[in-house]
Amino acid sequence: MPQDMTLNVNGMTRTVRVEPGTPLLYVLRNDLELNAPRFGCGLSQCGACTVHIDGKPTRSCVFPTNAAIGRKVTTLEGLSPDGKLHPLQRAFIAEQAAQCGYCGNGMIMTAKALLDRTPRPTEAQVRKALGANLCRCGTHNRIVRAVLRASKEVA
Ligand code: FES
Ligand code: FES
Repeated sequence: MPQDMTLNVNGMTRTVRVEPGTPLLYVLRNDLELNAPRFGCGLSQCGACTVHIDGKPTRSCVFPTNAAIGRKVTTLEGLSPDGKLHPLQRAFIAEQAAQCGYCGNGMIMTAKALLDRTPRPTEAQVRKALGANLCRCGTHNRIVRAVLRASKEVA
């Protein structure tokens, strides 16, 4: 049965009425109109739907909405609340790291978590951190360059 649930998303309090186990991705996109997180596989295998829950990269396609209550949800939109692009976003543009762009949300959100814990990662650390995020277009090398470029700005 649908229930009212109050969530903290990108620093704002949002209330939705959904079935408790609804994947958070559906709520973000369909109810809150936050369309940066993408539906890729729906099976926790590609990373396109990645958001942060309390700062930790999380695959929202398999994360029940009720488990987000009382926690801090951050989407890609939350990285630029004032409209000013995050260094990672600027670096992705500068390196032309997107081909179709579908993986970009997950790549940036996963890279953000990496830079939060390791501000100046090595190339090997970047590759390892992004290893479970799939890119069907094969722009991995540009993505890695973009993360390394951004790291010089945020460190
Ligand atoms: S859509 Fe969530 S991991 Fe692929
Ligand atoms: S740029 Fe197309 S999936 Fe990565």
